[in-house]
Amino acid sequence: MNYQGIIFDLDGVLCSTDEYHYQAWKGLADSLGLAFDRQKNNRLRGVSRMASLDIVLEDYPEPLAEAEKLALAEQKNESYKRLLTRMSPADLPEAVKSTLLALRARGLKLAIGSSSKNTPFILRQLGLDGFFDAVSDGNHISRSKPDPEVFLKAAQMLGLKPVDCLVVEDAVAGAEAGHRGGMDVACVGDAAQAKAGEYNLASVSGLLEIV
Ligand code: BG6
Ligand code: MG
Repeated sequence: MNYQGIIFDLDGVLCSTDEYHYQAWKGLADSLGLAFDRQKNNRLRGVSRMASLDIVLEDYPEPLAEAEKLALAEQKNESYKRLLTRMSPADLPEAVKSTLLALRARGLKLAIGSSSKNTPFILRQLGLDGFFDAVSDGNHISRSKPDPEVFLKAAQMLGLKPVDCLVVEDAVAGAEAGHRGGMDVACVGDAAQAKAGEYNLASVSGLLEIV
């Protein structure tokens, strides 16, 4: 398949912010006396902040008012952002950086398709501000993955048809979003283990063998 564009998920694909998400949710769950482990964390991959909170609160003994939920989501996001301030361009793995540059040198258009509202901040921390041809993120969408909205918007921003784009994902929900948008999906990490993509890769550098 001759792809013209590649749309990258951010958290867990280009950088290990998925670990920071885990730590921040774990801190919130601990403070509420709720069980939270890495298996549960995998269900939050690709999912919006409020939908993630609903999963974290599944075993909470009583229903919470919307205002209380917003306050808990804000509490989690504050501790997550504190972790993000420690990030620097050194947190962009060398293999990811060289793969991005090699893909661009092959003439492919490169975009971000992430559910995260913190995307602009993370890209700045990684030294990737202005690098991508398009950035579609949680600030531009009303429906989170597995809805295809964020990827369709990225393809549109690139000026490409969805069928000409390849999505790269670490989340099963994200792979489903790519497929629902009519795109092929290359998976890494958790989604690759679940064999959720047309391609299930050991690392992002594997992209160089398929495009
Ligand atoms: C996705 C992550 O990229 O962004 C999810 O995989 C996260 O785990 C979602 O919940 C929303 O992120 P944020 O930064 O807007 O809270
Ligand atoms: Mg991800």
